[in-house]
Amino acid sequence: MAHQYQHDVLIIGSGASGLSLALQLAEHARVAVLSKSALTEGATYYAQGGVSAVLDTCDSIDSHVEDTIASGAGLCKPDIVRFVVEHGRESIQWLIDLGVNFTKTRDAVGNFEYHLNQEGGHSHRRILHASDATGRAIETTLESRVREHSNIELFEHHSAIDLITAEKLGMASNRCLGAYVYDRKQGRVQVFGARFIVLATGGAGKVYLYTSNPDTCTGDGIAMAWRAGCDISNMEFVQFHPTCLYHPDAKSFLISEALRGEGARLLLSNGEPFMQKFDPRGELAPRDIVARAIDHEMKRRGDDFVYLDISHKPREFIIEHFPTIYERCRKFGFDITRDPVPVVPAAHYTCGGVVIDKRGRTNLPGLYTIGEASCSGLHGANRMASNSLLECVVFAHSAYQDICQQLHEVSLPCSLPEWDESQVTDSDEEVVVSHNWDEIRRFMWDYVGIVRTSKRLQRALNRIRLLQQEILDYYGNFRITDDLIELRNVSTVAMLIIESAIQRKESRGLHYSLDYPETDNKHPPRDTVMSIYTFKGRHEAA
Ligand code: FAD
Ligand code: SIN
Repeated sequence: MAHQYQHDVLIIGSGASGLSLALQLAEHARVAVLSKSALTEGATYYAQGGVSAVLDTCDSIDSHVEDTIASGAGLCKPDIVRFVVEHGRESIQWLIDLGVNFTKTRDAVGNFEYHLNQEGGHSHRRILHASDATGRAIETTLESRVREHSNIELFEHHSAIDLITAEKLGMASNRCLGAYVYDRKQGRVQVFGARFIVLATGGAGKVYLYTSNPDTCTGDGIAMAWRAGCDISNMEFVQFHPTCLYHPDAKSFLISEALRGEGARLLLSNGEPFMQKFDPRGELAPRDIVARAIDHEMKRRGDDFVYLDISHKPREFIIEHFPTIYERCRKFGFDITRDPVPVVPAAHYTCGGVVIDKRGRTNLPGLYTIGEASCSGLHGANRMASNSLLECVVFAHSAYQDICQQLHEVSLPCSLPEWDESQVTDSDEEVVVSHNWDEIRRFMWDYVGIVRTSKRLQRALNRIRLLQQEILDYYGNFRITDDLIELRNVSTVAMLIIESAIQRKESRGLHYSLDYPETDNKHPPRDTVMSIYTFKGRHEAA
C-alpha cells in the first residue's frame, strides 16, 4: 500500500486566505498546504488596489458597512458585513506585524501615516495599499513566514482532485476525511487524510475567455465542494472588472480602479466622457454599473474598447503611485502619463461559492472554505472593491479559532482507500480536452457575460450539458492530467453559473438580463442556493 499523508489540517490553496490560516494554525497543529502551481501563484499575488479598512478619523465602521451593503444590491448578509468590517483594523495590524510594507505618506504636520486609496462604491478613502502591487507584498510576506515554519509542510505543484467523504466510503455519519491529490511533477495520485480540511482555492475567472485572473483560477474548490454535497450559492454573480488593458498580448492585464480613485476618466473613442450619463458617481460608481456602461457604449458604437485617461495628472505623481501599471503599459507601447489607454471589461471575481457561516464552516462536517471560493454573505450581488483581501484575512482568523477549539475532539481518519486507476488508460485524444476548454470559455463569454438573455442562457445550458457528458466519459476512461482535472471543474462551475443565472428572474447587481431588466422589489431578495442532492440534472453534475 502506498504511503498516505496525515496532518491535523489540510489546507488546499496558498493565497492570502490559505497562508493566513496556515500561519495561525501552525502554532497548535501540523498543517499541510497544497498549491497546484508555485506557492505564490494565484489571484492574491496580482492584487493591485489594496485592502479596505476603516483607519481614517473621518471614516466609520457604519459607513464601510453601508457602502458594502449598497454595492451588494440587497443580497449582503448585514451581520457578516459588520463582522468583517469590524475586524478590518486588527486584520491590517496582523499583516503589518508580519512585515507587509503598506505605503505611507506625510500628514499635514509632517508625520508619516498610511496612505489610503479610494475605489468604486467607497464613500471614503479607506484602501491601504503597497504602491500598486498590494497582493505581491502580502503574498510574499506570507510566503517567507510559512517557508520558515517547522509545523507547515508545503506541497507545491500538487492539485487536489476530489474530497474524500465518509458518505462516499459508505459510513453512517458524513464527514470530510481528506482528499485525492495529483502530484503534477511525479504524475501520480496521493492520498491525504486530515482531521479538518480547508478549501482556500480561490475563484473561477478562467471559466471566461477574457479574465484578469491567473491560470490557477479554475474554481476547483467550488467544484470539489459541489461534488461532495456542499451548498453552493449565488454563482450567477460574476464580477467583470471594468478596466483591463486592451492589447492582444496583455492577457487582460488589470488597470487598477485606484486610477479612477485618483481622477482617471473613462472616455469614448471621440474623447467624450460618458459615465455621468449612467450614474451620478461617475467613474467611482460600483463596478457592475461601470462595466455595464462600458459594455453598452462599446456595443452602441461598435467599438472594441473605451479609453481610460489619467494623463492630466502630473507625470511624477502617476509614476510614484502606479509604477507597476506604468511599466507594464509602457511595455505594450502605452505611456499613461501622456496618453489615454484602451481598456475593456474582463471576468474578475466570483462572488458566489461554497456557502459558509461566520466560522468558515460548510454544511459538510470537517470541511471549511475561506477566501474567494466561499460565499460568506459579505459581497451579495456585487463585491465592493478591495473587500476581498480583507475577507480572506478575517475568515482565515475565524476558521483558525473554530478549528483550534475542536482539534483534540476529532481523531485522524483511518487508512483511506487508494486512488483506483484500474479501469483507465492513457488518453489517445488530448485534443478533446483542449477543444472543450476553449469552447466553454468562449460560449461563457458570449452567452453568460455582462448582459444576459434567457435565450442565450438556454443555449449555454444546452452546450454545457453535452460537454459535461463528454467530459465525464473522458474522465471515466482516461488517466488523469492537470488539464483534465481543471476542465472537469471548469465545466461544473460553468454549469453552476448558467443554472443559477436561469433561476434568477430579475436583474440585480452583477446579474443583468434583457428579459428581466428590473429588480424584483415585490419579494424579499433571495440567494440562489444549489445542492447536488436536490439538483434536477444530478446525473450530469456528478
Ligand atoms: P488565491 O489567491 O487565488 O489562491 C488560491 C490558491 O489555491 C492558489 O495557491 C492555487 O494554486 C490553489 N489551488 C486552486 N485549486 C487548487 C487545487 N485543485 N489543488 C491545490 N491547490 C489549488 N481584491 C482586493 O481585495 N483588492 C485588490 O486590490 C484586488 N486586486 C485584484 C487584482 C487582480 C488582477 C485579481 C485577479 C484579483 C484582485 N482582487 C483584489 C481579488 C483578490 O485578489 C482575490 O479575491 C483573493 O486574492 C483571493 O485569495 P484566495 O486566497 O481566496 O485565492
Ligand atoms: C483593482 O485594483 O482595481 C482591483 C481591486 C479589487 O478587485 O478589489
